[in-house]
Amino acid sequence: MSTLYGQNYVIEKRVKNLLNKMSIEEKIGQLNQYSGWKLTGPVSDRRTNREQDIRNGWVGSMLNIKGPNDTRKMQEMAMQSRLKIPLLFGLDVIHGYNTILPIPLAEAASWDLDAIKASARLAAKEAAASGIHWTFAPMVDIARDPRWGRIMEGAGEDPYLGSLIAKARVKGFQSDQLGDTLNIMACAKHFAAYGAAIAGRDYNAVDMSNLELWQTYLPPFKAASEAGAATFMNSFNTVNGIPATGNDYLLRDILKGKWNYKGFVVSDWNSIGEMMQWGYAKDTADAALKAIMAGCDMDMEASAYRNYLVKAVKEGKVNMNFINEAVSRVLYKKFELGLFDDPFRFSDSARAQRVLNDPENKVIARDIAKKSIVLLKNENEVLPLSKNKTIAVVGPLAKAKRDMAGSWTVNTDSSSFISLYEGLATRLNPNQLLYAKAGTVLHSSDNEISEAVAVANKADIVILAIGETWDMSGESKSRTSIHLPGDQEKLFEALKQTGKPVAVVLMAGRPLIFNTIAANANAILYSWWLGSEAGNAIADVLLGDYNPSGKLPCTFPRSEGQIPLYYNYTNTGRPYTNQKNKLYLSSYIDEENSPCYAFGYGLSYTKFEYNNLHLNKQTINVKDSIIVSFEISNTGKYEGEEVIQLYLRNKVASVVRPLKELKNFRKVKLNKGETKEIRFVINAKKLSFYNRKLEWVTEPGSFELMIGSASDDIRLRTNFSLH
Ligand code: NOJ
Repeated sequence: MSTLYGQNYVIEKRVKNLLNKMSIEEKIGQLNQYSGWKLTGPVSDRRTNREQDIRNGWVGSMLNIKGPNDTRKMQEMAMQSRLKIPLLFGLDVIHGYNTILPIPLAEAASWDLDAIKASARLAAKEAAASGIHWTFAPMVDIARDPRWGRIMEGAGEDPYLGSLIAKARVKGFQSDQLGDTLNIMACAKHFAAYGAAIAGRDYNAVDMSNLELWQTYLPPFKAASEAGAATFMNSFNTVNGIPATGNDYLLRDILKGKWNYKGFVVSDWNSIGEMMQWGYAKDTADAALKAIMAGCDMDMEASAYRNYLVKAVKEGKVNMNFINEAVSRVLYKKFELGLFDDPFRFSDSARAQRVLNDPENKVIARDIAKKSIVLLKNENEVLPLSKNKTIAVVGPLAKAKRDMAGSWTVNTDSSSFISLYEGLATRLNPNQLLYAKAGTVLHSSDNEISEAVAVANKADIVILAIGETWDMSGESKSRTSIHLPGDQEKLFEALKQTGKPVAVVLMAGRPLIFNTIAANANAILYSWWLGSEAGNAIADVLLGDYNPSGKLPCTFPRSEGQIPLYYNYTNTGRPYTNQKNKLYLSSYIDEENSPCYAFGYGLSYTKFEYNNLHLNKQTINVKDSIIVSFEISNTGKYEGEEVIQLYLRNKVASVVRPLKELKNFRKVKLNKGETKEIRFVINAKKLSFYNRKLEWVTEPGSFELMIGSASDDIRLRTNFSLH
């Protein structure tokens, strides 16, 4: 067999030696992954059988087992098997293990790759100390549809930002190489195009041109593969008529072929079995065959490989090379993790205690949380709050803790989380703070609203904490309406009537629609779900101890009817640009084309000015590059950070290109009154794209360069050409 799987010759050899000793059953066993849910509950047949399977060497990996003790117990069972091949323990450590970090969409709003990486490192460190070898993250699905609840789990709508974040998170989880007990394997998911589920309905079919697949949905996966992501996960959806789990175009041609990917691919939960419901396999045996031949290496929870592949191999229905390839990929990772040398090296109670209680964890969580907050509005500079005012903290989420964690939590004990109210209370004099809950996110009675109004009347300013509870965004949480739920807009209007300034803190797992608030609130902070340090981070921003610097990683529509709405659209033959007469232009008769808030948008307490754009040349060839320089000045009253964004437009090409595409950005910190010179380099790579044959090409042409503070707030523009 050729040396497909890795780069380390010693490991290759150990894999081959072991493979030679394995029976067919033991090989298929390595491709079988069970969930531990039933194992930690009361004894059942399922548990007994599964434990027996582990002892027989018919299980390669477990998910949903955590903690040094439970993982050790399971591993001891695996050590009773003939070849003593250790189990891999995988878990959904999506945004934190013990310390809960901001949801990935929130982190993406920080545009701070170092902070994002540090957050993933913390999650890895805590999980690795608790027996976990493998996280099912990062989710790198591009999402242009906020009806889809899993938009919360990715980095938003842009392939360039998404690719950089994919890389940062993979490096955060894995560091530079596996083998250290501070690192865990990453899993780039869901391969592919899961975020484009038709109508935003989870698990739905995906149908798109291959050009769109390559230019928009695949780049973050390619980046994750290049960053060395140890594993990939299939998606539940079909891609152009073929379930992703049985899709050899995705798995063999692209991932393992063109990209020469070395890790292994795990199915999603029973996604092999679900190929029957799709009408792509006639029974589980057929599904197992289709999945293994397509290149899906491990079966999560379908028991399809476990129950049917041995027979299929014996009957000659599947080429043994497919099995050997898949098993080798899995074994390679187990060797890389050092599990053959010490299968218990991740399951160490003393280390878990030490690592989980490290005070530094909270510092990292608070840092990324405050950087994830986006200031959407700040009329008359009502924020930051002056510290001697009386503040009415109002709203169903003002004291929320569990809701700040979002739907993917491993540690559900939220008692130590910091609510917004607590974040403020630890910093202010107790009698400066008044409070009214005013109902739930779904309902506020007239009485509850009146009480809140009475509290507001006693204060100088109202902080209104509203949004979504933890179970409103996430897997299987698609919504047809993404308006702020319940009576929360009504509550806002009543508070606004008091004449007091109202600053709204919106906590949610997706972009919501809140047009009345957008128009009438004095200030708006979009805080997403920020995890265990949420309240401290929001208080840091409200009180001006941290100047907000987040920018939206996805477009906020005005109406669900605009979805999918994204910044990198093409012009159409009949572009509409706010002229009065919309007739026969690409527009709506009942709504604007523009979003409520655009991709890249976010304010600061200070102001930035952009000046003196200069290109060192106006024309380049493919081997050449242009140095773009300009100045940015902080002309406001506070020190602050700006995310400078560079967009390009290819004006005429062999396939229609978007009006703007993000091609670079930099987050810079400037003192009050400071000016800095910024440089970007544009080379042919930045000008390349996929042509109609899906080749990555550079074509001569004319380009527009745009630099700005948001995709709809371009401050400097110029043109250049490539020949
Ligand atoms: C289904 C989800 O789609 C996937 O992202 C997750 O990792 C698995 N369940 C395991 O929990």
